[in-house]
Amino acid sequence: MSEMSVVVAGGCGFIGSHFIRLLLSACPDARILNLDLLTYAGNPANLADLATAPGLAFSRCDIADPDAVRSALTAWNVTPRYVVNLAAETHVDRSVLEPESFLRTNVLGTYTLLELCRGIPGVRFVQVSTDEVYGSLGGAGCFNEDSPLLPSSPYSASKASSDMLVRAWHKTYGLDAVITRSSNNYGPNQFPEKLIPLMILHASSGQELPVYGDGSNVRDWIHVVDHCVGILAAMRQGRAGGIYNFGGDSERTNLQVVNSIVDRICGHRDLIRFVPDRPAHDWRYALDSSRARSELGWRPEVRFEQGLSETIDWYLANDAWWRPILTGEYLRFREQWYGARR
Ligand SMILES: NC(=O)c1ccc[n+]([C@@H]2O[C@H](COP(=O)([O-])OP(=O)(O)OC[C@H]3O[C@@H](n4cnc5c(N)ncnc54)[C@H](O)[C@@H]3O)[C@@H](O)[C@H]2O)c1
Repeated sequence: MSEMSVVVAGGCGFIGSHFIRLLLSACPDARILNLDLLTYAGNPANLADLATAPGLAFSRCDIADPDAVRSALTAWNVTPRYVVNLAAETHVDRSVLEPESFLRTNVLGTYTLLELCRGIPGVRFVQVSTDEVYGSLGGAGCFNEDSPLLPSSPYSASKASSDMLVRAWHKTYGLDAVITRSSNNYGPNQFPEKLIPLMILHASSGQELPVYGDGSNVRDWIHVVDHCVGILAAMRQGRAGGIYNFGGDSERTNLQVVNSIVDRICGHRDLIRFVPDRPAHDWRYALDSSRARSELGWRPEVRFEQGLSETIDWYLANDAWWRPILTGEYLRFREQWYGARR
């Protein structure tokens, strides 16, 4: 078994592609198999700069299909030391409209990967999860890893369910597994349906900026690279059965974030349109990351203002990346979702 042999599920997505890039720069000899179904959110262009990386293999594969996953592993012909699961349906709004694919990929897909790992001696499974599994906070306090799981949306319920499966496979079958839970990520290559890229692209083209409710919901923003550094640290050094929160120490209301983007791009705050809130919209998330700091020596490095400014510059300079994905399917979803909120 090669020491750094890693199956990354969901490596063509936003966080998965940054994770693969980080892994290859930290361990240039790593052998990596990227399993990705290439849904609307999966974009091979996210890894275009690594097209010739010798250790990186790709298989288009549905993680909820056990035969497909097994064949991909057989064809790769390497025994993985780690399986890192970043494949998921991830957009909360879509989960409200069509929950089924969230259950299939996030729950059944995780189950399939856990079962695969059960047959691989010495493998470690890393489940990349989210602060949304903890539910919503009031004005004070923050979640730690022992906080109860109280998910509110079909998305967060599917993620909490998969976390529970990982815990059960660790307890029941002794599978070496680690769970990471991070706050809201931002950075380059994020699909433009998520808040920050949506607002950047709308502000730069003079379109309305839809903000839920009165914009007072609070999120704790973490730069995607800080998150990936945390996943890598948990993968290599985390305790078997351990859960690690990764927060960005950057709580902002949605309106603060949108105002910062608009002010930087065009100054037209009149483009902001408050729209009826999403059902069960959690009011605030915040994470206590002290376990990751003390056990893994991790801390977030990117200041939000700096990271946001660089992210805005990236989107403005990379229309060749985002133009091709603003296609029929995405535009239909946007019309269905925001059209109903006019
Ligand atoms: N984005 C965030 O703010 C955030 C925060 C905390 C945790 N997470 C978690 O991190 C992980 C990655 O999130 P992201 O933002 O990069 O998501 P993303 O939507 O950008 O990418 C998801 C990837 O998974 C792939 N995928 C979807 N269904 C699949 C299937 N059935 N089989 C194989 N591949 C499939 C897609 O093609 C895509 O490449 C998810 O598990 C998510 O829950 C995300």
